Amino acid sequence: MQNTSNIDFSDETFYKIRDLIYQLTGIFYNEQKKYLIETRLSKRLTDLNLTNYEDYFYLLKYSAKQSDEIKELFNSITTNETSFFRDIPQLKVFEDNVLREILEKIKIKEQSANYSKKIRIWSAGCSTGEEPFTLAIIIMEHLSEIPAGFSFEIIGSDISENVLSSARKGIYNSYTLRNTDLKLIEKYFDKIDNEQFQVKSNIKNMVSFYNINLIHSDSIKKLGNFDIIFCRNVIIYFNNDSKKVVISNLYDALKNSAYLFLGHSESLHFISSSFKLVGFGKTPLYIKE
Ligand SMILES: C[S@@+](CC[C@H](N)C(=O)[O-])C[C@H]1O[C@@H](n2cnc3c(N)ncnc32)[C@H](O)[C@@H]1O
Repeated sequence: MQNTSNIDFSDETFYKIRDLIYQLTGIFYNEQKKYLIETRLSKRLTDLNLTNYEDYFYLLKYSAKQSDEIKELFNSITTNETSFFRDIPQLKVFEDNVLREILEKIKIKEQSANYSKKIRIWSAGCSTGEEPFTLAIIIMEHLSEIPAGFSFEIIGSDISENVLSSARKGIYNSYTLRNTDLKLIEKYFDKIDNEQFQVKSNIKNMVSFYNINLIHSDSIKKLGNFDIIFCRNVIIYFNNDSKKVVISNLYDALKNSAYLFLGHSESLHFISSSFKLVGFGKTPLYIKE
């Protein structure tokens, strides 16, 4: 087995791979990230027994195995950090303001035949599933307030097959549950051992997972329209051009007056003026106008 740290990774090849990643995902790596790409891809080169990055670029771009290798590329180059109950102030805004408002609306419109009986939520860029399952737990805590005949559907999506397959299993370690109330862990998880917990089937059944690339409007259109989209800590990896594409796709996927949550360090400044920005303390929320 070769030592990949000795494999030559010229600037020219870095730019080719970097530009291909950008074209395929919207994720943009500047020159300072060359080492990060090298670190993330080196294991893949070793597994493939490749002796240089130029051959890897060729495999991605021109070979018959191109589409399989692109899936592997997405598994290798994405940053998948997440956890249950990540950014509690935002989740409080979801629970105390957005969810409450929706529950009030559906109580009033209960009699209207035209009002959709399914409230649809999308966790776009959900990684290993902690975000959509957190939302399912919060909703489940309000089950008694949901009028008969109404239901919540939650979709989680990502471009990495590895994280999606982990999300579908729903098994988590204690570290990712570090911000989760013990009572909620006892109520919504089965303990496998001291380290591993599996989400109970009532929560698991509320969420479906799909492989969706956020820069592809066609696959997003197939998902239909949503009342709430969470796209947190995803566009942080994009440049302004790909942010504009993704946000426009999310805009089209939202119903009128529906809500968009971004990560706490993300904003729509210079990206889109099509949303109304509402502030709850330090927590911004975007509403489709
Ligand atoms: C840092 S995680 C955020 C997870 C979760 N939303 C949270 O805030 O905890 C970012 C996720 O976005 C996904 N992602 C990156 N580019 C994407 C794209 N073009 N389409 C879909 N998902 C993408 C990555 O695979 C990764 O799992």
